[in-house]
Amino acid sequence: LERTLVLVKPDGVRRGLAGEVIGRIEAKGYRLVALDLRTPDAALLAEHYAEHEGKPFYAPLVEFMGSGPVVALVAEGQRVIEGFRSLAGATDPTAAAPGTIRGDLGRDWGLAVQQNLVHGSDSPVSAAREIGLWFPAL
Ligand code: GTP
Ligand code: MG
Repeated sequence: LERTLVLVKPDGVRRGLAGEVIGRIEAKGYRLVALDLRTPDAALLAEHYAEHEGKPFYAPLVEFMGSGPVVALVAEGQRVIEGFRSLAGATDPTAAAPGTIRGDLGRDWGLAVQQNLVHGSDSPVSAAREIGLWFPAL
């Protein structure tokens, strides 16, 4: 069965939306297989966001992601990688469709990085890599 890594980013935890995100994942019928609240360190974030190194939003992104606790979880189900990306909506919360997590709950705050509430792995290769980083025991 397919698995994906989901993060409720610091803005989501700070705003008290972790339960709402987890609820949407469970309501969709995906199963939680791991769940943890932690503030990620710089080394973990550098590995997690290695593909974005050198982009203008990279430094603000890593700073933001380390600014407070995140909820990291692994969800499992048929086509859950694509399914969670669909639940999350477009990267830009202003453009994200209503009905999605980012479309319903997110907005542009005029900051250097999109604070868009959640992360979800974008492919099977990314999911395997990210689950190994965040939950090495799985
Ligand atoms: P994640 O699930 O968080 O990986 O989002 P994504 O896959 O929809 O976006 P992507 O992996 O391309 O970018 C990772 C994160 O960097 C995004 O979620 C945003 O927080 C931030 N980001 C991406 N693109 C931009 C951009 O063009 N401008 C700004 N300010 N932030 C961006
Ligand atoms: Mg991404």
